[in-house]
Amino acid sequence: MNGATSAKIIGTGMYVPARVMTNQDFTRIVETSDDWIVQRTGMKERRIAENGQATSDLAVEAARAALEDAGVEPEDVDLVICATITADNTLPATACWIQERLGCSRAGGYDLTAACSGNIYSLAQARANILAGQARTVLVIAAECLSRITDYTDRTSCVLFGDGAGASVVQASDEPDTGILYTTLRADGSGGEMMILPAGGSRRPPSHETVDRREHYMVIRGREVFKFAVLKMQELIEECMNVLNLTVDDVRLVVPHQVNTRIIDAATSRMGFPPEKVFLNIEKYGNTGGASCAMAYHEARSQGAFGPGDVAILVAFGGGLTWAAAAIKH
Ligand code: ACO
Repeated sequence: MNGATSAKIIGTGMYVPARVMTNQDFTRIVETSDDWIVQRTGMKERRIAENGQATSDLAVEAARAALEDAGVEPEDVDLVICATITADNTLPATACWIQERLGCSRAGGYDLTAACSGNIYSLAQARANILAGQARTVLVIAAECLSRITDYTDRTSCVLFGDGAGASVVQASDEPDTGILYTTLRADGSGGEMMILPAGGSRRPPSHETVDRREHYMVIRGREVFKFAVLKMQELIEECMNVLNLTVDDVRLVVPHQVNTRIIDAATSRMGFPPEKVFLNIEKYGNTGGASCAMAYHEARSQGAFGPGDVAILVAFGGGLTWAAAAIKH
């Protein structure tokens, strides 16, 4: 395969389960209120997968929509990357279930674990594979069933999360200065305990004890994450703008990980971005982990947010700790 000049997102899609869980629903299971959740997070409702529905079920629907949007046949996909922290199984990779169900008969496939930064990490992988001549068409899916690892007895975290999937088809192009212009990826394991699923891996394999101690649910130190998130989102947006020599006027839209409207506002308003330049859909879906940025980008794109030449900056942070940004020219 020959190397390409650029890597373009030529189609997107998303899928959320039908079941809606409102803030009011939470008042029946933990001590909370609609007012508290709206004011502290910006969330009003989120979607929850049905019993028996797995991450790949959501991912396949989002991927089908993205392939159709791109006009790409499954057999033309060279690589399937699934960003998730809620894989159907630890073995095999969720990407392989997706590959088989879509009929991507020529594709390789693997999962990528970077929590909420997973979609942007995967876009970076897609771009790198394309520019290296390793792949021509890459299907990137970010999908989560976070409801499976949410502790519905912990009011400080349970109200935050929802389920969903977003997908992008990234393809080689010979046009210069277009598509995914720049990506930047970071990690800092010293903050690993700030967002952690304590058991179920090789450190603490599943046992009666881990189940009894509720160690198969996410533990989050929200207040600490808050400060880190504001700082890192701002740093990475600035990095994209500096590298590409962009001002706030040159950026059509910032598409952030939908974590908390206060975090997003704090990071973007300090940089001079007016609210109309920051895409939000958090009130409908809550925090869907890696899927959130992919779903937000899909919704912005399908609402006609981008004309030719418009630049979007995607930015996210999450467990790991990881953080990442991508600048995309349309
Ligand atoms: N309802 C009512 N009161 C609550 C709730 C709730 N659901 N949750 C917490 N409170 C209380 C707390 O107990 C505390 O009470 P106290 O003052 O008597 O101790 C008070 O509200 C304030 O709590 P804080 O934690 O200071 O609230 P804060 O303004 O920081 O908001 C939040 C909390 C929403 C979690 C915020 O810190 C946040 O969004 N942090 C980042 C979220 C995060 O980590 N997301 C996960 C990213 S990783 C991933 O996506 C997989």
